[in-house]
Parts: sequence; C-alpha cells; structure tokens
Amino acid sequence: MSHKTTLTLISLAVSMAAGGASAKEPIDPIRPVQEINLAQVELGKKLYFDPRLSKSGFISCNSCHNLSMGGTDNIKTSIGHNWQQGPINAPTVLNSSLNLAQFWDGRAKDLKEQAGGPIANPGEMASNHVLAIEVLESIPEYRVEFKQVFGTEKITIDEVTQAIAEFEKTLVTPNSPFDQWLLGDEDALTAKEKEGYALFKNSGCVACHNGEAVGGNSFQKMGAVEAYQTDNPAEGLSAVTGKDADRFKFKVPTLRNVELTYPYFHDGEAETLEEAVELMGRLQLGKKFTEEENAKVVAFLKSLTGDQPAFQMPILPPSTAKTPRPQPFGEDS
Ligand code: HEC
Ligand code: HEC
Repeated sequence: MSHKTTLTLISLAVSMAAGGASAKEPIDPIRPVQEINLAQVELGKKLYFDPRLSKSGFISCNSCHNLSMGGTDNIKTSIGHNWQQGPINAPTVLNSSLNLAQFWDGRAKDLKEQAGGPIANPGEMASNHVLAIEVLESIPEYRVEFKQVFGTEKITIDEVTQAIAEFEKTLVTPNSPFDQWLLGDEDALTAKEKEGYALFKNSGCVACHNGEAVGGNSFQKMGAVEAYQTDNPAEGLSAVTGKDADRFKFKVPTLRNVELTYPYFHDGEAETLEEAVELMGRLQLGKKFTEEENAKVVAFLKSLTGDQPAFQMPILPPSTAKTPRPQPFGEDS
C-alpha cells in the first residue's frame, strides 16, 4: 500500500469516527467563542470604538473596520489621518482571530501585536503610544476600569492591545446557512448554493480557501497560473521574509461574510463577487467559469454570511480638562 493510500485511509477513518457531514468537508463550521476574559472584552470594546486613540480624535478602529458593515470600510483602500489615501484594502476584523498571522503580508504574529500598529501609524490613527496612554490616563473612568481589569495602577499600551485583542476574539460569526448545512441541516442551503459549493470544491478553490475561516491559514501567490496586473506596489510576504520566492504571496483572505466585505483583493480592485470569482478561477486555477457557474459559486459564497456580532453600543467616558485635545487639522499631521 502506498504512503498516500495509507494517509487517505487514516483520514477516512478519522472522519467516519467523527461522524456528520462536516467531518468529510474541507471547510469546518465556526465555533462560537470559547474561553474569554469578559472584563477585558468590555474594556476592549470601548477602546475599539474610542476615536480619542487617534491624533484627530476622530478615527477609531471601527472607522475602518465598521462592525455594521462586515468589519470593513467597504472602500478600495482606507482613508487615514488628514484624509490620506491608504496603501491597501482593509481586511475584515470578523473571524480575524482564526488567521495564522495578521495583515496581508503577515507582519504581525497575532491580534495583540497587530492592535498597537494602527494607533501609531501616521497614515492611520497618527497618534503615538505615549499620547494614547496620556489620553486614557486623563479619564478617571478608564483608570478605574483598567485597574479593575488588570490590577495595575498605571495604564500601559500592553494592556490596551491585550483588551482590544480579547474583544476581537469575540468577533466570530457562527451559524451561517453553510455551517448549518455542515452541521446536518440539509435544508439550510438551496440547490443553487449546493451546486456552487460543489464547483468551489471540485475546481480547486478549497486548496487555498479551507478550514474554519475558509482561508486565513496560508500565504499563497496572487496569480498562481496567470500573472495578476495591478498598480498597487504591495509585494506581500517577501516584504517580511526578504525572499524573492515570496513576492506577491498574500495571506489568503477569509471568505466568511465575503458578501459584506467588498471591494476585494489587497488592492480593492474587484468591485463585485462575480468579478472576484472570475479572476480567481482564471488566475489561480486556469479555469474559465460560465456565467451560470459563476452565479452558483457566488450563491455559495453568500451562504457563508454568519451571525454578525451583536452587543449594546459602548458609551465612552467623557474627556476631562486634562485630556490632550484632538488635533484633526494641521501642517504637521
Ligand atoms: C485608517 C484605517 C484603519 C484604522 C483606523 C484601523 N485599521 Fe486595521 N487595518 C487597516 C488596513 C488598511 C489593514 C491592512 C493593512 C495591511 O495588511 O498592510 C488593517 C489590518 C487590520 C487587521 C488584520 C486583519 C487581517 O486579516 O490581516 C486587524 C486585526 C486590524 N486591522 C484591526 C484594527 C484595530 C484593532 C484597529 C484600532 C486599534 C485598527 N485596525 C485600526 C485599516 C485600518
Ligand atoms: C492558489 C491559492 C488560491 C486558490 C486556488 C484560490 N484562491 Fe481565492 N484568494 C487567494 C489569495 C492569495 C487571495 C488574495 C489575493 C489578493 O488580494 O491579492 C484570494 C482572494 C479571494 C477572494 C477575495 C476575498 C477578499 O476579501 O478580498 C475571493 C472572493 C476568492 N479568493 C475566491 C476564490 C474562488 C471562488 C476560488 C476558486 C475559483 C479561489 N478563490 C481560488 C488564493 C487562492
């Protein structure tokens, strides 16, 4: 028996033991969030929505990762401090805890490391960590809450990023029609959606888009079969590893909630799902879908929209006389 056959038999045995439709599928249902520090989540939620972490006092995490819009800004590339044009499309924060690393090129290893970036990025929130802490320290309610949550007298950037990351872990979206189907509800998908999934699987999309997030777990070349034409200068993974072989490899985006996270690709060039599917088929697999096939794949992709985060809007504690003033305009920005 060849090595490969043995492996296949083992995985078959494993999937049979596990039972249910999902065990045989390359996509796993999203699990509701487990073990979470609720006090950190509540604090992190406030920080996520607090624009005072930006120099302008106007831009919060939610400005670019709007939780009313699939965790994105729905524009080609983000707008940062002073209306600066961002270099790259904002990926969704939904299910980002499932990613193998953060950012298109994976330069942050996890959500905590990632969260420090935008606050001090001159093209995003344009503050710095000292100023952000000064703002928080000037607000008594924040001082009290940080002390309750972390047990320390002084607020640190480490605590800020820890709390935001803990909140982000709650932003998973279980219970999509596709997941209901995976978990055994035959009627959760229409015939068209099922045919779309079969096309998605049999055409080879699942080679890169698989697992719980239907992506997010590998870096792959954009333009595996046919080169991708773009004016965007982003180089992908090679910017992190310095290896030429990693040029144009990007973190495979999650396809969860992809119906909500337009426009698509790191340069935001594909405006519709139809366009993204057409390009993926052609550039990654050398496959030309008919219009009907394309529509089926799109129908399947739309069945990946899950329960969106639901919570009461956090009410932020007011600034005080000591709070550094917002600086929305100015030469030096
Ligand atoms: C001005 C818009 C903007 C703001 C404000 C902003 N982000 Fe982002 N965010 C982006 C863009 C653009 C990227 C992609 C950058 C890249 O990959 O190089 C990104 C990437 C991310 C990622 C990685 C997702 C992935 O799949 O790789 C996470 C998580 C994230 N941001 C969370 C946050 C948090 C938390 C805050 C607030 C502290 C924040 N962002 C503020 C635009 C923004
Ligand atoms: C060889 C790996 C690979 C294969 C095969 C592949 N993809 Fe992708 N997919 C990627 C990568 C990498 C990106 C991000 C590319 C970029 O932004 O430059 C992506 C992006 C996407 C996006 C845009 C998501 C977003 O949020 O921007 C969609 C939709 C998509 N793929 C669907 C598909 C479909 C449908 C198939 C099958 C026809 C497919 N992919 C096959 C690697 C792959």
